[in-house]
Amino acid sequence: MALLSILHYPDQRLQTVAAPVKEVNAEIRKLIDDMAQTMYAAPGVGLAATQVNVHKQVIVVDISESHDKLMPFINPRIIARDGAGEREEGCLSVPGIYEKVTRAERVTVEALDRDGKPFTLHADGLLAVCIQHEIDHLQGKVFVEYLSRLKQTRIKIKLQKLQRETM
Ligand code: NI
Repeated sequence: MALLSILHYPDQRLQTVAAPVKEVNAEIRKLIDDMAQTMYAAPGVGLAATQVNVHKQVIVVDISESHDKLMPFINPRIIARDGAGEREEGCLSVPGIYEKVTRAERVTVEALDRDGKPFTLHADGLLAVCIQHEIDHLQGKVFVEYLSRLKQTRIKIKLQKLQRETM
């Protein structure tokens, strides 16, 4: 397994729309393993392939404290959503920034698992938020885009300054 480097907002590559996975093969399973290792090391509760500059529809999520409930989703689609709730979100691509975002409270997701087998999942609470957040990444969307223009500008300036300081 390998640690992958994570793109940081406002990197333009985070706006790339990911392509569907045609075949779930060893390459995809290695990507899932590397993404999981990268997510746990960060640490984070979710990671999209877009964030490691691989533009394929793959996300990994693990909201457990024990870090042993890895959920990979390949070609995920939200087929139903219900309710609305506001929750504070963060993102490994937007380090140090936490802001409230309103999303569906419950979602039904269809995806393929790491063996390429289709499954359907009903999620609520943090898991539902996490899945919506990661699927947004695959569509080229970062959570700060839900915030006001003013907040987005402030976050961009803050992160660009941080990147200059660490270069
Ligand atoms: Ni994120």
